[in-house]
Amino acid sequence: MRSKVTVVGAGLTGRTIAQELARRDYADVVLVDIVENLPQGIALDLDQAASVLGYEPNVTGSNSYEDTAASDVVVVTAGVPRKPGMSRDDLVTTNEKIVGSVTEQALTHSPDTIVIVLSNPLDAMCHVAKSASGLPKERVFGQAGILDTARFRAFIAWETGASVRDVHALVLGGHGDQMVPVVSATTVGGVPLTKLVSQERIDAMVERTRKGGGEVVELLGTSAWYAPAAAVMEMVEAVLLDQKRVLPCTAYLEGEFGVTELYMGVPVKLGSAGIEEIVELDLSEQEQTWFEESAAAVRDVVGVLGKG
Ligand code: 2OP
Repeated sequence: MRSKVTVVGAGLTGRTIAQELARRDYADVVLVDIVENLPQGIALDLDQAASVLGYEPNVTGSNSYEDTAASDVVVVTAGVPRKPGMSRDDLVTTNEKIVGSVTEQALTHSPDTIVIVLSNPLDAMCHVAKSASGLPKERVFGQAGILDTARFRAFIAWETGASVRDVHALVLGGHGDQMVPVVSATTVGGVPLTKLVSQERIDAMVERTRKGGGEVVELLGTSAWYAPAAAVMEMVEAVLLDQKRVLPCTAYLEGEFGVTELYMGVPVKLGSAGIEEIVELDLSEQEQTWFEESAAAVRDVVGVLGKG
């Protein structure tokens, strides 16, 4: 039987995820948005591309959560995106209401689903989705680390002239300017990055990674969507195909990495049960300090929830 994935929010990221999913052709897709005709129009367009691109025309657009019933995965992209000059945290009050409401509605029709959050500020929105859904922590998690790591990998590939496929890296922590590029775990073809690139250039790439989302916002006037959608796809696929991928995702920590009762980006094993394991690794002293600073920044934003 084909899987069913609901994508909430037919903005640029949501529709790109729907397109990527359709092209993989192993899941029926429901694209939901409150704007009348928008998800229906995008779904119709995607379905009409199906015969040319070689997938089944099984994308549905809807304004009603009834159509999302029995979804295996619900991806939440709903909410307002950043504008130039805004931080992700500036969105917290508006997006808290939206993410809480859409998660509740989706769960009414898919009580056992897995929820993957993409809305910003990401770490705080995972808290909102967890409490609105009532699901166990293994079934509610967020996408950020794959995207942040993908940005770091691109910069390293350009710097070293090596294929991006041979750049292995990891970015952990909150999805904000205090995220933690884990240089100690970064290699190019198995060779530590620190042996290939000067500390000064590494510091510059770390800084560019931390501001990576903002760099796109400054150029486009809105948030990125291709790389975020690609990153979500890697997670959806790991769940639907029970791949046991080890990927950086935003997970609810209860003591791991020295952090309690907080969503943060850490390596996890992803399979059909959702987060099947949190994978701990040794961080350098500086990385552990950065991780703690990032946790403090996430806690500040989470502290604003419920006060809007
Ligand atoms: C980004 O970093 C939208 O948060 C997302 O581009």
